Amino acid sequence: MFNVLLALALPPASQACPSIAPAFVFRPLAAKLHSFRLTFSQSLRLPMPRRYVNQLAERDSVDQVFLVADKQLRANRQGNFYLQLRLADKTGSITGMLWNANEKLYGSLENQHYLRVQGSTQVHNGILQMIVTRIEKVDHSEVDEADFQAVSTVETDKLAARLAEVLRGVKNLHLRNLAECFLIDEAFMAKFTSAPAGVKNHHAYKGGLLHHVVSLMEVCLAVAPKYPELDSDLLILGAFLHDAGKIDELTYERELGYSDEGQLIGHIVTGVSMVEEKAREAAKLSGEEFPRELLLRLKHMIVSHHGEYEFGSPKLPMTLEAIALHHLDNLDAKIYSVGQILKEDMSSESNWTSYNQALGRKFFKGSR
Ligand SMILES: [Fe+2]
Ligand SMILES: [Fe+2]
Repeated sequence: MFNVLLALALPPASQACPSIAPAFVFRPLAAKLHSFRLTFSQSLRLPMPRRYVNQLAERDSVDQVFLVADKQLRANRQGNFYLQLRLADKTGSITGMLWNANEKLYGSLENQHYLRVQGSTQVHNGILQMIVTRIEKVDHSEVDEADFQAVSTVETDKLAARLAEVLRGVKNLHLRNLAECFLIDEAFMAKFTSAPAGVKNHHAYKGGLLHHVVSLMEVCLAVAPKYPELDSDLLILGAFLHDAGKIDELTYERELGYSDEGQLIGHIVTGVSMVEEKAREAAKLSGEEFPRELLLRLKHMIVSHHGEYEFGSPKLPMTLEAIALHHLDNLDAKIYSVGQILKEDMSSESNWTSYNQALGRKFFKGSR
């Protein structure tokens, strides 16, 4: 299979300055003069061993394959088009800026495809990014796809085993039967162990949902004994199922995104439907009706776990377990997100990270 080699002209020094990035605006896509040419190469020959995204440092020169997680054609103030790519591997993603782009080049690239990328890294506003000078399409048969799968099978197996262990330790028979109906559903578990917990925010990688849920369950197990008035079994089931609808809300075959169901229905409503269906199944298998109030309490935990109307919850948490779940879920998500922000911030000259739009603040790193 031939690869298409897209050799791009280097930008003038002024254009390579990343400081103009925040001022870029979306413009209607217009045909522009092409500044690249198409050539062909027969095989993938990389000059250096792979360095994963989390190993890249400032001023590294790069020549390796990434998965295109997102692509945008943008224009700078002068009306010159450039490509902004989100380049991913199993450890994370980095933004790549490619100057002198055009609509044809943009159209020739596809999300979820592999690209050999040449360029160099630099820090802009505390974030590591890459100035891309050359890209080459690579067929998936030429890459080791394990380099692009976020969580190793070993880790997934360990987390899935822990999930089952905690759920099978639930004392309430109805809740344990319900959990079992999910655990024996192979199609559900295949998705549950490979879905991300989000597209951009916390645990936004394949396998991230399982990681988030098991981590949250461990927190619930630690916290519940401190509050004997909490029904710990219900809390554990809530932790397991609160984001279960994400298995259909998100797409994660390769690129992370939202499915039609995700955009039209969302994971809260989907999660409630899943629980209703499995409760019917559990009742059938056990020959005992699933207690109405228990099911109501569990569904309420799913419905209210975002805690506020403006964050997508149609109901505020109105039971002890729903309040606990909301706060512990938020704790697990925030600790993960801020931990990543602190870890990934590259501005060595400052004790502070750059401003984070989503969380509305910057974070203190201190001098360490
Ligand atoms: Fe959620
Ligand atoms: Fe969550």
